[in-house]
Amino acid sequence: MKERVLTGYRPTGKLHLGHWFGNLQNMLALQDQYEAFYFVADWHALTSEWQNPADIARYTEEMVLDWVAAGLDPDKCAIYRQSDIPQVAELLLYFSMVTPMSWLERTPSYKEQQQQIGDKDLSNLGFFTYPALQTADIAIMDAARVPVGEDQLPHLELGREIVRRFNSTYKAGNRGLIEPKALLAAADDGRTDAADARVPGTDGRKMSKSYGNAIFISDTPDEIRKKAMDFMTDPARKQLTDAGNPDICPLHQVHKLVAADDKIADWDACCRAATCGCVPHKKDLAEDLVTHFADFQTRRAALDARPGFAKEVLEAGAEKTLPIAQATIERCRSLVGL
Ligand code: TRP
Repeated sequence: MKERVLTGYRPTGKLHLGHWFGNLQNMLALQDQYEAFYFVADWHALTSEWQNPADIARYTEEMVLDWVAAGLDPDKCAIYRQSDIPQVAELLLYFSMVTPMSWLERTPSYKEQQQQIGDKDLSNLGFFTYPALQTADIAIMDAARVPVGEDQLPHLELGREIVRRFNSTYKAGNRGLIEPKALLAAADDGRTDAADARVPGTDGRKMSKSYGNAIFISDTPDEIRKKAMDFMTDPARKQLTDAGNPDICPLHQVHKLVAADDKIADWDACCRAATCGCVPHKKDLAEDLVTHFADFQTRRAALDARPGFAKEVLEAGAEKTLPIAQATIERCRSLVGL
């Protein structure tokens, strides 16, 4: 029997290269090796967007279309929406009994986000219980493995503690919930950091929608070209005659993701030797990006032309998910003694 993996993403906007290389390629590989459950975390989106939830439903459907166009196969994996699985909310309720508030208060992402995201009111109970809800997502499906990036590891560790406390409080024995483990996937070349690929944005910081430095996978060729021309390069290389260091050049790091090795080696060599300029390199990156995403964009446009397709995928996903969630919640009720 295949091991079960589960992961989710919040539908808060368009997908960018960070998602594509950091997460989606990994999800594609895992759908063949595991029993994979992938969900759109619309309740998690609501924890921060509760004042303006108007876009969540649209972004949910767009995420489904992006995933399928990228190659996730709804026949191989389950693609579902969190809010279609009410058992998740009931399990959160039981978790809210066994979880000390101090555990949630010390989550690093909680403090960080409250400080950084100034334009949203995150002083609500929903945002506070974010990691417990995430634990319910995982535990309700008895998922053993969770492919996540490094930034999510504290959440997962907390999740393991919550599950352990639930199991011990209710003397679950061999009927207990599974303590999920992180899954750091090995890429083709044997690297183990595929789930954590840090894709730099056009300003050199981690690519993120909220930094305004993202190239979206749905950007038109002209938008991609414009953003590529803005891409930051080695800041120490001010003139053509200065030798550059490709290892710290954000442009070079992104180019590596889409271009052939020998071509990358050429750009690497001429940058260090100060025999090529950054402007032609930017142009080359732009064309490689446009080519890389052309097939995806064609498939995505075809799916867009099929009204109701995203809903069908989500319904089929819920059908696969609900029986498992129902069995788990019945087990939990009986463990709690209700
Ligand atoms: N917190 C994740 C994010 O930032 C989304 C998420 C919600 C999740 N529940 C999950 C990820 C369960 C893995 C497993 O996008």
